[in-house]
Amino acid sequence: MRAHPAGPRHADVLLPANTAGAQPSTPDRLNELPSEIWPHNATRGADGVVRLAGIDVRDLAERYGTPLFVVDEADFRARCHEFATAFGDPAQVHYASKAFLSVQIASWVAEEGLGLDVCSAGELAIALRAGFPVERITLHGNNKSVAELTESVRVGVGVIVLDSFYEIARLDAITRELNVSQAVLIRATVGVEAHTHEFIATAHEDQKFGFSIASGDAAEAARRVLKCEGLRLVGLHSHIGSQIYDPDGFEIAAHRVIGLLTALRNEHGQSVVDSIGTVDLGGGLGIAYTADDDPPPVATLAAQLLAIVAREADAAGLPRPKVIVEPGRAIVGPGTVTLYEVGTIKDVQLGHGTARRYVSVDGGMSDNIRTALYDALYDCRLVSRPVDPEVEPALSRVVGKHCESGDVVVRDCWLPGDLGPGDLIAVAATGAYCYAMGNSYNRLPRPAVVAVRDGESRVLLRRETEEDLFRLEAETR
Ligand code: LLP
Repeated sequence: MRAHPAGPRHADVLLPANTAGAQPSTPDRLNELPSEIWPHNATRGADGVVRLAGIDVRDLAERYGTPLFVVDEADFRARCHEFATAFGDPAQVHYASKAFLSVQIASWVAEEGLGLDVCSAGELAIALRAGFPVERITLHGNNKSVAELTESVRVGVGVIVLDSFYEIARLDAITRELNVSQAVLIRATVGVEAHTHEFIATAHEDQKFGFSIASGDAAEAARRVLKCEGLRLVGLHSHIGSQIYDPDGFEIAAHRVIGLLTALRNEHGQSVVDSIGTVDLGGGLGIAYTADDDPPPVATLAAQLLAIVAREADAAGLPRPKVIVEPGRAIVGPGTVTLYEVGTIKDVQLGHGTARRYVSVDGGMSDNIRTALYDALYDCRLVSRPVDPEVEPALSRVVGKHCESGDVVVRDCWLPGDLGPGDLIAVAATGAYCYAMGNSYNRLPRPAVVAVRDGESRVLLRRETEEDLFRLEAETR
């Protein structure tokens, strides 16, 4: 596991190219694990080796192989608790399972008292396998199938978030068929341009989710729902995007959702509004991926959101609704790291005396596609041995082993100049949307996911094997 300094040690000059705005860690702090980015229980021991919940990363790599997702269970639970405390009630916090879900993760969420958002039959099946209290499950999605809707109603999920006129008609038919009453929210598009990557902003008008308030579709959806005997309209929903630090977008969303409630009261009367007791502001609370990121503390953002909704409701003369939030990334993101083993190192001359160091690891865009897809930035450290203060750091690009030059894991980061094959590096804050958006490009087996807690590790999801490659083959000879 120890580095063999076989590869080139230094490039002539190592400068970032085409990386305007990218902020790699400062080169003089390579030994640190900034606590805003790294899991609560990540420490570098006196021997210079990193431990996760007390376990030496070299032991984790040896036992489970690399790449490896390591989840700090206490960190995950602490963040659930932090959200529950900040919003005053765990039931007001729904973990967005799309960020990362496994049966044991669903059990932790259940034990912490939170609700769970699912948006497919698969996520629902995992929640049910965990014995997740079904009344605390919310079903989302812009194109839920009839089978997904039927199964959700049949098992008794607490709430279904309606997203299209077709769906209102479909769910109405299902509830009549099964002779049940189903609580629903209407997903309203509030017309907010969230300052985030285009692909993860969701509340501007020109996209696929929800019913536009501005066009009158949201009010029309309410009209139709109120006519359906089997549907109980209990609230309104909006989700403005992801990786958001600033409460301004939520403020506009709350203002417009309360505006819709006011319009519903004017049209349908106070009693209708009295039964619409919930405003769900969705997820999207941002986390720190690099030292330059400065997300607000959960308690601060929660206090702001609760105050905004209360103020808007008071101003409209409406009863103060219960506020729900649906964090995914902010709960599971920061407590997980990905361990990789370094395989090769290349210093590529770029001309004009500049070069770029490519550090290739044993995973890549199959276990973390966020860099390729969103230009996401990450913090990355040598973890299997001490950083030698005498060795000059090298600005490096961490790349995967896939057949594609866009296969970048960390665009620019400072790593020790003597990094070599066999060294282990860890990329921080990979808990959300990495395994969940994983794929098996180039037929790489999906990594294992292990949980660590109090010096013990256990598998959440085992590593795929070559045998797994053949599971779907009709012919295996
Ligand atoms: N609620 C709804 C309705 C959502 O659509 C989402 C995320 C969430 C909650 C949770 O958002 P979070 O708190 O995790 O930001 N793949 C992208 C993120 C896509 C998010 C999709 N919806 C990424 O890797 O950044």
